[in-house]
Amino acid sequence: MLVYDVVDSTNERALRIAGDGVVVLADQQTAGRGRHGRNWHSAPGLGLWFSIGFEPPADGLIFAGALGVRDALSARCNAKIKWPNDIVVDGKKVCGILVEYRQSRAALGIGINVHHRPDDFPPRLRDRAGSLESQTGQTFNRGELLRDVLTALDARVIVLRSGGLESLHREWVEACDLIGRRVLAGAVQGIVRTIQLDGALVLDTNAGPQRIRWGELVEVAEL
Ligand code: BTN
Repeated sequence: MLVYDVVDSTNERALRIAGDGVVVLADQQTAGRGRHGRNWHSAPGLGLWFSIGFEPPADGLIFAGALGVRDALSARCNAKIKWPNDIVVDGKKVCGILVEYRQSRAALGIGINVHHRPDDFPPRLRDRAGSLESQTGQTFNRGELLRDVLTALDARVIVLRSGGLESLHREWVEACDLIGRRVLAGAVQGIVRTIQLDGALVLDTNAGPQRIRWGELVEVAEL
């Protein structure tokens, strides 16, 4: 494991280092990356910011990642997977997962908000982001949490690498709990028919099936 006080992005480091299973952990990231080019708030002392390098890369790391984090957190709180791939506790996002592929490598990057109080988040994030401590009122130890998340991830990656992509995908789809629900994704409203192997939603809309790759979903009550 490579442990740093400060790095630009643990994903960036993991993508540059050769080797399978290398873990890069930092107390602070100066250019933490979120999905779709967004910045990931990674202040020192507050969270777990780490990445695991895979060489060769595997499809489905995003499912293994979410299920592994959910498994580890479930012993402590009611953690749920929220499409497209967040972990939420009591309605707020406590963890983001970013898988990046480059040449013959992949980095599975995980950011878990652990000790934050609401004021520790930038104002624009406060209504959606929370930390394990702010959402549960419990105290968390980052070292113990990291150990448990890595153990759970390891179990999921072993399944993935022994041909378990479809079973992990099925379990992840079930955990997202969206099939058959009517949702609004941007301007598109429809009923979730399926979630594909790349994580995209297929909605049955009045204009036929429509694929949604990412975005905020709002559940619409059936009349
Ligand atoms: C998201 O947008 O929800 C994904 C956020 C992923 C953040 C983690 S923190 C560790 C790793 N290094 C990065 O630069 N990003 C990921």
